[in-house]
This record gives sequence, structure tokens and C-alpha cells, in this order.
Amino acid sequence: MAFFNQICRSFSTSSVRNVVIKHVTIIGGGQMGAGIAQVAASTGHSVMLVDTSDDILKKSIKGIEGSLKRVAKKKFADKPEAGQEFIQKVLSNVSTSSDARASVQGADLVLEAIVENLKIKQGIFGALDKVAPAHTIFASNTSSLPITDIASSTSRLDRFGGLHFFNPVPMMKLVEVIGTSATSQETFDSLMNFSKALGKTPVSCKDTPGFIVNRLLVPYMMEAIRLHERGHGSKEDIDIAMKLGAGYPMGPFELLDYVGLDTAKFIMDGWSAMDSGNPLFAQSELLNKLVAEGKFGKKTGEGFYKYK
Ligand SMILES: NC(=O)c1ccc[n+]([C@@H]2O[C@H](COP(=O)([O-])OP(=O)(O)OC[C@H]3O[C@@H](n4cnc5c(N)ncnc54)[C@H](O)[C@@H]3O)[C@@H](O)[C@H]2O)c1
Repeated sequence: MAFFNQICRSFSTSSVRNVVIKHVTIIGGGQMGAGIAQVAASTGHSVMLVDTSDDILKKSIKGIEGSLKRVAKKKFADKPEAGQEFIQKVLSNVSTSSDARASVQGADLVLEAIVENLKIKQGIFGALDKVAPAHTIFASNTSSLPITDIASSTSRLDRFGGLHFFNPVPMMKLVEVIGTSATSQETFDSLMNFSKALGKTPVSCKDTPGFIVNRLLVPYMMEAIRLHERGHGSKEDIDIAMKLGAGYPMGPFELLDYVGLDTAKFIMDGWSAMDSGNPLFAQSELLNKLVAEGKFGKKTGEGFYKYK
């Protein structure tokens, strides 16, 4: 049966063999979308960056320019003109649009990095599926939602996968490439090759909650909070212990503040709704309290620690 399914799949995708991804449309110009746009443009891809307004897109481009300046300062320390040339060349590879539907014409890949909300992601992919070329691969950068559920709003299940980048994208080498049970081998290979073309190291993941990294990291961070809640260690000592004892660059509370407590809670809420009996996904009163108080971590000036 598996063999039969495979044959059917390869017939259904026979016109879409190993798409070489050159033109990328990125939906969402926030932290992740702008970072992915920067890396794709720096590696010679043509990028169309899409967000809901021109004002947001101006900020995204400004952010990319600022980040490129820091790269240029290091890379061309003795040659400021070459650095300036590098920045202009990369920026010339990026166009912007607030019209998502018009932006996908000519795209080999539509990569979505918008708000972590299933209905909104399904809505945008459903609309783009009707207007994107047949060969265009769709991918989501979701951290916690099943790719299968997002893809279900489209009719290109064989050309749909996950590309999960890490923050900050220009610095972090890993990309998790997620294939669903319907993703064709050609699509999966194209996504792996694209990740390598970005200078990243891809790993292959199944469409399971948290893929690899977050599936291990989020329960670890939650257990650190529970350990502290049980009175078995101060947050400072737990952070020191994991840095000096396990060699981690950040302790779990520092990492939670960096990731965002709201994001951690959002992921945990989703997973405990999917698998409520799993003790790894148990709620934390302390995390819930901090989030209710708007203490999301570094971005709000306070989380487990204060940053003001
Ligand atoms: N922040 C992280 O550390 C991280 C890491 C990996 C993956 N992710 C995932 O990446 C995605 C984006 O996260 P982020 O941190 O960049 O969020 P963000 O809030 O910084 O950016 C989201 C952007 O999407 C835009 N947007 C919202 N709806 C839109 C629409 N319909 N059309 C076009 N643009 C729209 C928003 O205006 C915003 O600029 C989420 O799915 C998140 O789970 C985040």
C-alpha cells in the first residue's frame, strides 16, 4: 500500500520535479520573515517580502539594512566602500509588497512567517493557492502548529512542507525541514537544497509537535520553571548550573526571557490541548501569572528577570 501511495504521489507530482528555488516570496516581514529575507537575498535569491502595510515593510527593510551594516562592518572591516557595495547589492535583491496575492506570481517558493495562528495561516495559504503558479512550493515557518493542518487549506498537499528557521536567522545555522505524509520527495528535496543554498544546515523532521528542537527544548524549559516552583532551586542558580554544568550558552530562564514567555505559553497551551495527559505538557502557574501580567521577557522589559 505504501508503495502504491508512493507511485500515485510521484505521478501526481511528475510535472514538479526538484524545483530549484530562486524566487522566494516571504509572507510576514517580522523578526523571522525579515531575517529569512536577509539571508535569502545575501545568498543571491530574489526576494519579495510581504506584510500588511508599507509602514511595516519600511521597518523590515530598515531592520535588514541595520543587520547588514553589522555584517559588513565585520566582513569588510578595512574596506568600507566594499561593505557599502555589499549592502546595496543584497538590498537590491529584496522587493516589498503589501499585496500578497499579486506577490506570488513568479515565486518558486512561498514561505510564510506570520502570526502563530492556524486560522490566519490557513486563510492566507488558501487564498494564495488559487493564484500561485502550479510549480510553486508552499512552506510555513511555524514553531508549533502541524504543517498538515496548515496545508489542508490548499490543493497542493504534495508541494507543501515546513521550513523552520531559528532566531536570529542570520546567526543560527539550523533549518528543520518538515515533510508531511503528503509532501512529495521532489518538494522535500527542493526544500533541503534551498536550505543548503542559504548556507544553513538542514535536518529532516516529521510533522510532530515541536519537530526536533522545540520538542526537546520547550519541555526542558518548562521543567526548569517547575523545579523552581517546587522550591528546588532559584532561577539564578538553575541558570548558572545549566551554563556551567551542561555547557549551555544561556540558562533556561534567560532563554525563556529571550524567546518570549507569551510564545512559550502559546506553544505549551497548544500541545496540552492536543495531548492533555502528557506530564511534559503540564501547565505552570508561575508562567501563566507572568504572562497575565504582561511580563513576556526581554521584549517587554521584564520576564523572569528585569531588563530596564
Ligand atoms: N520568533 C521566533 O523565535 C520564531 C522562531 C521560529 C519560528 N517562528 C515562527 O515564525 C512565525 C513568525 O514569527 P515572528 O517572531 O517573526 O513574528 P512577528 O510578530 O515578529 O512577525 C509577524 C509579521 O507577520 C505580519 N503579518 C501578520 N498577518 C499577516 C498577513 N495576513 N499577511 C502578511 N503579513 C502578516 C505582521 O504584521 C508581522 O510583521 C510564527 O509562526 C512563529 O511561530 C518564530
